[in-house]
Amino acid sequence: MIAMGITLEVLREKLTNWKGCDLAKTANAVLGEGNPHATVMFIGEAPGQKEDELRRPFVGAAGQFLNELLASIGLKREDVYISNVVKFRPPANRDPEPIEKEQCMPWLMLEIALVKPKVIVPLGRHSLGHFFPSKTITEAHGKPFQLTDAITIFPIYHPAAALHNGNLRASLMSDFRALGEYLATKE
Ligand code: URA
Repeated sequence: MIAMGITLEVLREKLTNWKGCDLAKTANAVLGEGNPHATVMFIGEAPGQKEDELRRPFVGAAGQFLNELLASIGLKREDVYISNVVKFRPPANRDPEPIEKEQCMPWLMLEIALVKPKVIVPLGRHSLGHFFPSKTITEAHGKPFQLTDAITIFPIYHPAAALHNGNLRASLMSDFRALGEYLATKE
């Protein structure tokens, strides 16, 4: 249950002072950003170096590619909400540990509760694993799955994975086309 008056701004302020995850000792807090009433929410893994520096999600190379993918289906960053499972950069960009994902999860749950997206796009396996632990990104990408009556999950590969892999890049572009077509049915 969310206390009345909680907004994304309040959440951001509270996260800045939160020390509930060990990663907070070595990294800056990065909450999601974008349209506070977005229909679509993209959820990545954890901030990288650039995100840590600027305290904003997806502003490095993977973020550039995400911007291009969004543009390919007529969306701008400001139209959607973009966040991460883990709110702090893991040292040397290692994979987040299960405990770090668990500790940071309440922040993501609050973001989802406040934004109320109709479609959630997990980017990569860490994010997908939160919603459907038994599905793999290889089998699930590019297709809609109903989570609740109100929320559809539409998993897509992580854009960083495609930066140096032409096949994955083509797969991401075609999954975004499928996402665009799916979103058109929701309007
Ligand atoms: N990769 C992520 O998963 N999240 C970011 O914010 C940037 C890169």
